[in-house]
Amino acid sequence: RKISIVGVPMWLGQTRYGTNLGPQGIRCAGLMERLKGVGQDVVDEGNLPIGITGCFRQSGENIKNVKTLVDSSEKLAAKVSNIIQEGRFPLVLGGDHSIAMGTLAGVAKHYKNVGVIWYDAHADMNTPETSPTGNIHGMPLAASMGLGHSALTNIGGYQGKVKPEHIVLIGARDVDKGEQQLIEEKHIKMYTANDVKRLGMEVVIAETVRYLSERCDGIHLSFDVDGIDPAEFPGVGTPVADGLSYKESLQAVRLLAAAENLISAEFVEVNPLLDKDDMTARLTVNLIGALFGETAKSKQVQRTDRK
Ligand code: ARG
Ligand code: MN
Ligand code: MN
Ligand code: MN
Repeated sequence: RKISIVGVPMWLGQTRYGTNLGPQGIRCAGLMERLKGVGQDVVDEGNLPIGITGCFRQSGENIKNVKTLVDSSEKLAAKVSNIIQEGRFPLVLGGDHSIAMGTLAGVAKHYKNVGVIWYDAHADMNTPETSPTGNIHGMPLAASMGLGHSALTNIGGYQGKVKPEHIVLIGARDVDKGEQQLIEEKHIKMYTANDVKRLGMEVVIAETVRYLSERCDGIHLSFDVDGIDPAEFPGVGTPVADGLSYKESLQAVRLLAAAENLISAEFVEVNPLLDKDDMTARLTVNLIGALFGETAKSKQVQRTDRK
């Protein structure tokens, strides 16, 4: 593949400083050499120059930092759209999960029926009416469906980037009441962390890819690393116990590597300031490597090479 990496140093979609350092954390854990190591044509376009214009709660509404988030999402949407225009694969590094609004606004310009795999402990389908926190990183999937604050739903200058029947949630285990209602109302496909344990990841990914391929013209992977258990991925701001294991997550991305209709991906919510020994950043690089063709074998080769 021809891959273009873009980092989005955003943290104002939530309240814990540090996800802005996620892109650098992932790069420093060796992302470029790993992707080159599996023969990818990869360009690092650096971090998106986003202006953090302050952290404040907007008066009267249950939503924080709207203006900053809209501005940066517009920039990201334009960037992602450009990358696709050039025939390259956007690999977006977060940043908190609010950045998905921008990524999807860019991707959906080129794909009418974009399928979304939302790998996450959360559903991120809140609106200001249902959100327990007012944090926008809990709203991007709702906004992308056209639900919630109009400033968010209008990112990219158009509404409805993703259709509810084109979404698959994997790993969910902390879903708020309003989100649960939405999932039931719109019949959104969901594999909770427990479903994955019961069915096995291989079945889940096979079913997911089949489901989306039947309906969509491309698949976007939105990978929130808090989908994985915090015992293995401690560097996240909203940890939820009883998560997916690193091992099954590695299996998931290896299986997705074979999906020809994967058109874009983002890895979000890595917070180096909350991490332990760079574990989260390093294992995230393993996941990204596997998504782009690293196998158990190719990784081993690389390890021996270094000694
Ligand atoms: N559901 C909670 C909220 O809306 C948590 C969202 C966490 N989202 C995330 N991308 N980590 O505030
Ligand atoms: Mn999320
Ligand atoms: Mn999450
Ligand atoms: Mn909750």
